[in-house]
Amino acid sequence: MKLAISGKGGVGKTTFSAMLCGVLGLQDRRVIAVDADPDANLGSGLGIPADDPITPLAEMSEMITQRTGAADAYGGYFKLNPQVDDIPEKFARHIGSIRLLTLGGVAKGGGGCICPASALLKALLVHLVVGRDDTLIMDMEAGIEHLGRATAQCTDALVVVLDPGPWSLQTAGRVHKLAADIGIGKILAVVNRVTDNTDIAGIESQLGQLGIPLIGQIPFDPDLAMGPFRPSDKGELLPTPAFGRHRENIENILATAAKEMTKPQ
Ligand SMILES: Nc1ncnc2c1ncn2[C@@H]1O[C@H](COP(=O)(O)OP(=O)(O)O)[C@@H](O)[C@H]1O
Ligand SMILES: [Mg+2]
Repeated sequence: MKLAISGKGGVGKTTFSAMLCGVLGLQDRRVIAVDADPDANLGSGLGIPADDPITPLAEMSEMITQRTGAADAYGGYFKLNPQVDDIPEKFARHIGSIRLLTLGGVAKGGGGCICPASALLKALLVHLVVGRDDTLIMDMEAGIEHLGRATAQCTDALVVVLDPGPWSLQTAGRVHKLAADIGIGKILAVVNRVTDNTDIAGIESQLGQLGIPLIGQIPFDPDLAMGPFRPSDKGELLPTPAFGRHRENIENILATAAKEMTKPQ
């Protein structure tokens, strides 16, 4: 299963992505977690300690130079198809069975930015989506443009995380259009921070008009503010009590996503 997680800033994409990776990791399943947000924090969501920060791939200039054959970053020639298949093993942070790859700042290549770092990240994304069997969970920033057509078409689904408010449905509409434009087949939605006042039926029916199935809801839980996993300096998954309360729900959301993937949209 290859899922990209999107939605507007602050809706809970990273928290949800970390919990998805977490339920799979606790089942000892091989997962590649991709932090594609330049403002990366999936690592801390998975318990990477603050005093042991991850160097994003985009900042590994020596590796990028070596792989792309680029002598200097913005001039001259470089390979557009650098070797990337060993990057998950060599450069990912291991958290139990999860391999975390933090892309860093230039991921937003689209068609525009052509530099060695973006060429490497693009090749890596294509490899992860097209060339591997591992489960893939990608924590995207609000936009999904940088997924690119080739990657998007092979991503099983884009999961839009929504706030319960009315504005987020506009986001869902925009993401839906964008996803259709770049060719993602399946869009699914999850509502986060649900309270007793949330009009789930109303949200579900508006999503229905867009053809987007609502595959789950996550209650508002202030304890999630501490993150779903506690810091571990041994690369272990240490679930917080809050995660324990949400675990079964997240497992159900994953199962529903898998079921939706077998239906035509
Ligand atoms: N269900 C929830 N209940 C309460 N707080 C939440 C919930 N989900 C996320 N949060 C909090 O909201 C903030 C933004 O979440 P985050 O996952 O970083 O959003 P995003 O990645 O979309 O920017 C964080 O402080 C997080 O702890
Ligand atoms: Mg985030």
